[in-house]
Amino acid sequence: MSIVPVVFNNTVLRDGHQSLAATRMSTRQMEAVAPLLDTVGFGALETWGGATIDSGVRFLSEFPFARLDALKRLAPKTPHMMLLRGQNIVQYTNFPDDVVEAFVAAAARHGMDIFRVFDALNDLRNIETAIRAVKKAGRHAQGTVCYTTSPVHTPEMFIELGVQIEAMGCDSICVKDMAGLLPPYVAYQIVRGLKARVKIPVIVHTHETAGFGAAAYYAAIEAGADAVDTSISPFANGTGQPDTWRMLQALSTHPRRPGYDAAKLLKLREELTRIYAELSAYTSHRNEVVDNDALTYQVPGGMLSNFRNQLKEQKMADRFAEVMQEMPYVRQCLGWIPLVTPTSQIVGVQAMLNVKFGRWKNFSPEAMKIALGYYGRTPGPIDPEVLALAEKLSGKPRFTGRPADALEPRMPKLRAELAQKGLPADDEHGVIYAMFPQEVEKLYRADAGKAAAPGPKPEIKTPEPAQPVIPGTGKKISRLALTIDGRRHQVSVEEVG
Ligand code: CO
Repeated sequence: MSIVPVVFNNTVLRDGHQSLAATRMSTRQMEAVAPLLDTVGFGALETWGGATIDSGVRFLSEFPFARLDALKRLAPKTPHMMLLRGQNIVQYTNFPDDVVEAFVAAAARHGMDIFRVFDALNDLRNIETAIRAVKKAGRHAQGTVCYTTSPVHTPEMFIELGVQIEAMGCDSICVKDMAGLLPPYVAYQIVRGLKARVKIPVIVHTHETAGFGAAAYYAAIEAGADAVDTSISPFANGTGQPDTWRMLQALSTHPRRPGYDAAKLLKLREELTRIYAELSAYTSHRNEVVDNDALTYQVPGGMLSNFRNQLKEQKMADRFAEVMQEMPYVRQCLGWIPLVTPTSQIVGVQAMLNVKFGRWKNFSPEAMKIALGYYGRTPGPIDPEVLALAEKLSGKPRFTGRPADALEPRMPKLRAELAQKGLPADDEHGVIYAMFPQEVEKLYRADAGKAAAPGPKPEIKTPEPAQPVIPGTGKKISRLALTIDGRRHQVSVEEVG
C-alpha cells in the first residue's frame, strides 16, 4: 500500500485572523499574500465565510462578494473554501431555505469551490438545504461534525454523525474542533472510527488554544486523516490553528509528511508579520499563548478574541473570569450544545447577563429560542426549569420540527426592498442584505458620499455582465485599480454624458 502524504488546508485568510485579530484583515491586506499562498500547493485556501462577511460589511466597508472575486483572481489555482453555518448562513439566526439556496448559488457563481457546512447543534436537518444547494451548483460539499465535550458526547456519537453525513451525499467530512478541546487520542479514535466506516475524505480542524492542537493533528494523521487545517504565524497558534511550518517540523521523518516549500512559508510569515503589526489594535498577547482555562470554558478561538472586546465595551472587562465560569452552567441548561458561532455568542451573552443581573433574570431572546427548539435538536435535554421559564415568558411551547420549516420564503421580499431603496436588487445584495440590512445601506451611503473618505474603499460588485451603477442615480460606473505607494486602491469612475 502506497503512503499518501497528508494535505494541509490553509486558514490564514479566514480563521487565522478571525481567531487572532478579531477578523479585521482587509481585502487589501489579503491581496499582498494571496498570490504566494496560491503557489504553495495547499489542499485549499479558506478565504471566506465564518465571521469575515459580518466583519467585512460592518467594520471594513467591504462588499463580501468583491473580496471573493479579488481573491479568486489573485489565487486561481488552489480551491477556495468557505465556512457556512448551515441554516444560519453567516449570521446568528435561521434563514428560510430560499435565502440559503440563493446564498450558496451566488457564492458558487463567484467561484467558491468547497463549502464546509456545519450546524452549531449538530442537528443535521439544519445543513440539508445548504448541502443540497452546493451539490446542485456542482461544488464540493463538506459536511461537518462539531466536536465538543459533555456528559452526553462520546467518540461514537461523532462517528455516527459522520456516517450520516456521508449518507447525505457529502464529498468529505470535517471534524471541527472550534475551541481546541480535542485531545490527541480522542482525535485518533474519531478519525480511526470514521476511516473504518466512511469512504469520503476526513479532514480535522482544531485550534492551539489549550496547547495540544498539533498533537491532535499528529494523532489524527496517524489514524489516517486525509487533511488538516493549518495557518501561518503570527496568525497561527494560540487561539488559531497550528502554524504550517511548525506542523511540518512536528512531522519530520513521518512517512506522510507533505513537501511544502519552507522558503515560501518563511516569506509568507514575513509578509503576515507586517500585516499583524498593522492590526495591533485588534491583537492581544493573551490570544497568542496557551490558555489552560480554555478546557474548562470551551470557548472557540474566534470568539475569545471578539468576546474580550465585547466585555470591554460593556465595561465588564474585569469580570471576564466570572463570565467565563458561568458559561459551562448556561451550556448545561441549554442541553450541552457545542459552543461555536452562533451558540458560543448566545451562551456568552447569556453568561454575561447572568453575571450582571443574576441567573435568568434577563433571558436573552436568542437563548430563549435555543431552549424552545428554534435552533434545532439539542444534544442533551434543556433544563426543565429553564424550559418552563422560556415557555412562560414567550407564551410558546417547545418546537420540535426542522427550524427552517417554520420560516416563510424571503428572497422576493428582499429584492423588492432593495429595489425600493434604490440599491442593487440582485441575489448577491439580497442575501447579504438579509443578514446585514443596515450595514448594506451604510455601505452605499458611504459610497455615494465618498469624496476623499479615509480607510478602505467599499468595493461594490454586481454580477456580470451588468455594469455597476451608482446607487440611486442609475449612472454607470467602472472600476479601476491604482497602486499608490505600493498599496492597491480601488477607484470608481463615473460615466459622463
Ligand atoms: Co476554527
